[in-house]
Amino acid sequence: MNAAIHETLMATELTPLIGSAVHLGKDALLSGVYATGLRELLERRGVLVFPLIRLSDEEQVRFTNTLGTLAPEMDGEPTYKVTLDTRANARADYLKGSLYWHLDGTMNKVPILASILSSKVLSPTGGDTDFCNTYAAWDALPEEEQQKLEGLRVMHSAWTSLFYYDPEPTLAKTKEMMSIGEQELPLVWRHRSGRKSLVLGCTAHHVLGMSARESTELLVRLREWATQPQFSYRHTWSVGDMVMWDNTGTMHRATPYDPASGRMLHRTKLQGEEPFE
Ligand SMILES: [Fe+2]
Repeated sequence: MNAAIHETLMATELTPLIGSAVHLGKDALLSGVYATGLRELLERRGVLVFPLIRLSDEEQVRFTNTLGTLAPEMDGEPTYKVTLDTRANARADYLKGSLYWHLDGTMNKVPILASILSSKVLSPTGGDTDFCNTYAAWDALPEEEQQKLEGLRVMHSAWTSLFYYDPEPTLAKTKEMMSIGEQELPLVWRHRSGRKSLVLGCTAHHVLGMSARESTELLVRLREWATQPQFSYRHTWSVGDMVMWDNTGTMHRATPYDPASGRMLHRTKLQGEEPFE
């Protein structure tokens, strides 16, 4: 592991291409003094881990506000309960798609910039969170392949993810998911910074202008490429850990766990600042 001083911000690389652990106390985090450094580190490393930082919801909201604009949940609340337990979250069924590689907000023009999760209750088995760096995956592709991919467009929809966890849904369920919408996105996102990342995940239905077979083969191959071990980091949670990821340059998924286990994460989000382009 390489320790690097970053603007007096002490961070340790968790893997060479993705993930840094940030060694700052609660007061330092909440002060906002390190906000610029944290944002820069997030963009560069994809995932930031704050081990055993134990922020309350109120503190997590304050921390989120130091980094940008907090994006409220659909019900207007600042925090969201991430659990598969429908007793704790009536809309938990929508989270079943989160067990498959995705980025958040592919139905929006401007996806959220970042998500921040704090662990409250663990599952005895499973329930890790996997991340992969879609900037690094793009950068590592051979140049002739990059040239073939640039300019391709992909249709994304929420209902595509339904078939991952419910292969024979009712028509009613299918239509409910279809009502969430669909959106055409670039396969390669050219960010304002000049960097490029791949836009993939379980909402990707097909590549425009390709046969079904050719399109599926390409999307599966690129998902397999982007989620290779050298581009990935798996976080195994301890209660009190907080993890933040750059939603514009990573994909994530939870590993399977028992919905009755009580596993609970509290989430805040940072409003997006850049449209898919
Ligand atoms: Fe997600």
